[in-house]
Amino acid sequence: MLTSYDYPIAKIIDNAGIHTILVGDSVGPVMLGYPNTMPVTVDEMIYHTKAVAGAAKNALVIIDMPFMSYQESIEQAKRNAGRMIKESGAEAVKLDGGLNMKETIMAIVDIDIPVVGHIGLTPQSIHRMGGHKVQGKGDTAVKLLEDAKAVEEAGAFMIVLEGIPRGLAKEITDMLSIPTIGIGAGPDCDGQVLVIHDLLGLAGELRPKFVKTYLNLQAEIDNAIKTFIEEVKTGVFPDDAHSYH
Ligand code: KIV
Repeated sequence: MLTSYDYPIAKIIDNAGIHTILVGDSVGPVMLGYPNTMPVTVDEMIYHTKAVAGAAKNALVIIDMPFMSYQESIEQAKRNAGRMIKESGAEAVKLDGGLNMKETIMAIVDIDIPVVGHIGLTPQSIHRMGGHKVQGKGDTAVKLLEDAKAVEEAGAFMIVLEGIPRGLAKEITDMLSIPTIGIGAGPDCDGQVLVIHDLLGLAGELRPKFVKTYLNLQAEIDNAIKTFIEEVKTGVFPDDAHSYH
């Protein structure tokens, strides 16, 4: 799984053979310059997901339900999940939470919308957690095992495990029958997800330990732009080959 927020990147990801594309609420910090995921709206999620769904011919497209689009009531969660599927072209929704979201997940699944769970370091709870901190260390592991079980029992078809010790991720993966997708959860999950801008080296200097950068696209882009400026200034571009006659 990889995240995507726009048409051209989604097309490349889809062609490359990725199974699932997540339009995460990470769109806030990654694409919109927000300080975190909290301000992201349902409208923004739909806008970005429409572009991604238009590009994805093979991959399953999952849309993240943003903060306060499902926490208020079961009715609100069903209404927003329905609208997000109806208007975005995604095939499943993802939401943060474990045992506390069991009934909400059940209600969304009950109206035939596939749900992906998300437990551990859930970004919509960073204020309670006191920041982006690894969850489930020591005694708190029991709570995450309960959360994982509740998400599966509620009918979710997949669960994201974020920012938890690898041993605990393995325990959860062994315990559940639905696939686990890890991010900062070690190698023993059934699948892995990264934010595409992290993978491509477009996310600046701040790199959490779990991120592997496969390309320094920021440097490549910087180099291309500086070369363009230089060539325009010196008259190298446009040359005759790039001119009409
Ligand atoms: O919003 C997001 O991109 C996510 C992934 C990091 C799992 O939730």
